[in-house]
Amino acid sequence: MEKLLIKGGNRLCGEVTISGAKNAAVAILPACLLVKDTCRIENLPDIKDVKLFLKILEQLNADVKYIDKNTVEIDCTNVNSYIPPGDLTRRMRGSSYLMGALLGRFSRFSVDPPGGCDFGTRPIDQHIKSFEALGATIDTSRGVINGEAENLKAGHIFFDVVTVGATINAMLAAVSADGMTVIENAAKEPHIVDLANFLNNMGANIRGAGTDTIKIKGTKNLHGGTYAIIPDQIEAGTFMIAAAATRGDVVLKNVIPRHLEIISAKLIEAGVKVSEGEDSVRVWVEEGTTFRRINFIALPYPGFPTDMQPQLVAFLSIIPGTSTAREGVWENRFRYVNELKRMGANIRVEGKLAIVDGVDKLMGAHVKATDLRAGAAMIIAGLMADGTTEITDIYHIDRGYENFEEKFVQLGGDIQRVQVVDDMID
Ligand code: EPU
Repeated sequence: MEKLLIKGGNRLCGEVTISGAKNAAVAILPACLLVKDTCRIENLPDIKDVKLFLKILEQLNADVKYIDKNTVEIDCTNVNSYIPPGDLTRRMRGSSYLMGALLGRFSRFSVDPPGGCDFGTRPIDQHIKSFEALGATIDTSRGVINGEAENLKAGHIFFDVVTVGATINAMLAAVSADGMTVIENAAKEPHIVDLANFLNNMGANIRGAGTDTIKIKGTKNLHGGTYAIIPDQIEAGTFMIAAAATRGDVVLKNVIPRHLEIISAKLIEAGVKVSEGEDSVRVWVEEGTTFRRINFIALPYPGFPTDMQPQLVAFLSIIPGTSTAREGVWENRFRYVNELKRMGANIRVEGKLAIVDGVDKLMGAHVKATDLRAGAAMIIAGLMADGTTEITDIYHIDRGYENFEEKFVQLGGDIQRVQVVDDMID
């Protein structure tokens, strides 16, 4: 087991290059199953969830070749199973995309319920509804999700909630279904558009990704090609907030500034300076700035991302006055608040609302990463705090951030990864 030790107080300054987007990668990798040819994927983040996905593809008999740590060639011509290994799929949420991809490839799948971060219940009713709209029959009665379609055909799908996962699964299944599928109330996240661009690059016909309505004309003629994954909006946003919270001056390179506008807007409201280049963003705090309290609500794109909610709350914990954060996507995404409180933060959670009374300083403490983005929030808190912060359960962080602590160290953060020797417990 490993943990992070952070000595707080250093300003983050310099340049950092943002990696490829995790949530686009875990949608594009299963999409390769639809292509009986070689897909070369570039700008793939070197993170645990991606490695796990590549292992799953290999176990399905795909030929996976690493060209370098961020480029792979995947040939799914010989994939011959619609049953991915449950011990691997249960470890991540993105594995749910195997349902749509295998339905598209084999007209059937048998997939264990997916894992991923714990934010309360994470239903899959909308995924199932979309498969049924395409003519599949789904059975969840035996602990495994089984799907089968005699003839996968286009359908009209109306989502009851805006859901990234079900939108992606519907796209994956519809790409090779006969006819024109229409997805209404679709999610609009950058990774939805990235998946559509990837599939179109491989011969699919998808229009409207990034709007509420996506139209997909099915085809059986997908072919191989080369595709570079977009930069990670959430990794970029995490460094933006870390720069602000440490009163630093950081230039983020390899970003799409348009994806970061809502994060920039909130930082500017709080008194932080942000300027945009073509594929870079600079975030800095002028000397003598007194931060201003803000309120925000986490919503589907183009709203403020729920995956940035914990990081922003960590920053708000040292802003004078009372700020509020409302979670508008997940049932329970404030489990990390107790960890921030150990560091002296003054936060009250009332259902989906966190009320944050800014304190002068956080203090180093022993905390844990309760999930992936909560772990990122703990790092930001540790960088701001007086003294040393120890973060355990960092395997959550490794699932989704490439070279995370190295990037902070390069910016001047004092972070070390150390092995934990288990204490003897009687
Ligand atoms: N929902 C339903 N029924 C469904 C599916 C979703 O009611 O069938 C509800 C959920 O309970 C939730 C809302 O719809 O209240 C949104 O869920 P969504 O399906 O959009 O989430 P997801 O696809 O499971 C992805 C990301 C999450 C991110 C959310 C929201 C991946 C692998 N995961 O999850 O990312 O929080 O979208 O943007 O793409 C992370 O990266 O840290 C992370 C958790």
